[in-house]
Amino acid sequence: MMSPFYNPVRIFTGRDSSQQFAEAVEKDFSQADPILVLTRGNGVHRHSRLQPIMARVENKTVRLLELDISNPDIADIVKIKAEVESFDYRMILAIGGGSVMDTAKALSAMKTIPASDENTIRRAMEDKLYTATNEMVPWVGIPTTSGTGSEVTCWATIWDKAFGKKYSITDERLYAKAAVIIPELTSSVPLKTSVFTALDALCHATEAYWSLHTNPVTRVYALEAIKKITVFLPKLKDNPEAAAVREQLAMASLYAGLAFSNTRTTACHSISYPLTLLHGMEHGLAASYTLGAVLKRNAPGIAELDRLLEAFGVQHVEEVEPFIFDLYRQYHVPTPLREYGVSFQNVQHIVQRAYTKGRMDNNPTEITAEALTEILTEMI
Ligand SMILES: [Fe+2]
Repeated sequence: MMSPFYNPVRIFTGRDSSQQFAEAVEKDFSQADPILVLTRGNGVHRHSRLQPIMARVENKTVRLLELDISNPDIADIVKIKAEVESFDYRMILAIGGGSVMDTAKALSAMKTIPASDENTIRRAMEDKLYTATNEMVPWVGIPTTSGTGSEVTCWATIWDKAFGKKYSITDERLYAKAAVIIPELTSSVPLKTSVFTALDALCHATEAYWSLHTNPVTRVYALEAIKKITVFLPKLKDNPEAAAVREQLAMASLYAGLAFSNTRTTACHSISYPLTLLHGMEHGLAASYTLGAVLKRNAPGIAELDRLLEAFGVQHVEEVEPFIFDLYRQYHVPTPLREYGVSFQNVQHIVQRAYTKGRMDNNPTEITAEALTEILTEMI
């Protein structure tokens, strides 16, 4: 049975998104005080487009933390929780990429969980103790990268490098109260980061389209996101600051986020986790690395495959993998897996850790360990 599409996030877009949201802060979030502002640093909160919001926020008690983290780890959460322990925040404003927004979600879900040590947080995530809390702190996402879609999903990824694991904090109450889309904020992001985040969004959209939990509304968003990314991502290198390209990629990321907010991801993301944990591959690169190979295997199980291929601008399933690998080359991203330390000897370590519950079993076609070994071996 197909599930209904649901997403409760208020989304502010367009030239005056910042102004619109600033007015909403005044009207609808008047009780939200004090506010914890998390940013990705480098003074992004001083960006001119954010000033209508910052001016409203500054009327309240504010604590601003510039975070310097990518892929938030349990250790990061413990450290930040210690820093804000005496600050009784009632709202979190997250201005950053997926790492900043996922940190905001962790601080929202686990505000009342004392975090003197990493084991407390580890247990809270393993046993989902945060779901018992009455109070999840409302948060607002202002993405500064175009890719994660975290501003419209209700889960966060927290890594546990000490134990070689990753956790997902999931709760319907973790949807942002609002998402404010300001494409200009993404212009100062390094080009490679922009490429990897766009590839991440491409996977979110494609995986949402073929997911076992797909639905007709999700699929409209997914196709639109794929069309925009395949057209505009190759153009980014010619002029990385072009406002029109940035705007298209920001909207594509939002649509991809809306698409997979209802389905979650599938085989490609599942396979990406050990590629990131064991071989340090950036998330968007690791996720997109097997997109073409998985598409070839999934093809017979994908409804309306022709529309998916059309969105990619290709006629045959075999053309998607070369399209993605060509993008890597255009952006000088090494393509063979051996460049990331993967060898015929250690490929099994990846295979063994590639089967995340809720991801691999959300794929329309079974990818056996043998099939995955074959896929990865071909790429060494
Ligand atoms: Fe992702």
